[in-house]
Amino acid sequence: MYTLPPKSDNKIDNYRKIEQYLPSLFDKEVNIYSNLANTIGLLKYFIDDINWIGFYLVEKDYLVVGPFAGLPSCTKIPKGLGVCGTAYATGKLQIVSDVTECSNHIVCDPESRAEVVLPIVHKGQVMCVLDIDSPYIDRFDNIDIEHLEKIAKIISTFY
Ligand code: SME
Repeated sequence: MYTLPPKSDNKIDNYRKIEQYLPSLFDKEVNIYSNLANTIGLLKYFIDDINWIGFYLVEKDYLVVGPFAGLPSCTKIPKGLGVCGTAYATGKLQIVSDVTECSNHIVCDPESRAEVVLPIVHKGQVMCVLDIDSPYIDRFDNIDIEHLEKIAKIISTFY
């Protein structure tokens, strides 16, 4: 049983709480899927205005859906396709202000408008990607990106 610190009205404070708390959530005695599942619980609690958050896990030339919070989603995404598959293929963060304007976007939850996808890189290899969707256009700004990149680095230490 975990007691989470109280949520703040300030998004920077909430990101700092995630960054402080996340390393202590890691349990080296359980598998990566359990640790990623708990990570999603923490992020979902502290990040506002999102409708889907989860991991897509690398399996050879595909990504397969992993622990997430949100509506049931597509199970398999080929490397290089969609926003997630592009993050996997390039190893680079992908940000979309409005997915309805993005031809390379795979619709899973029709409510989604903005999307950010962060590759989780360990020893130079993409292990999985963290996908976050918001129902609000332009939801993710530089503050979100700065903190989400820190969070991605912490998650990479779980491997
Ligand atoms: N939109 C993603 C697919 C996953 S869902 O958003 C959860 C993409 O284009 O890769």
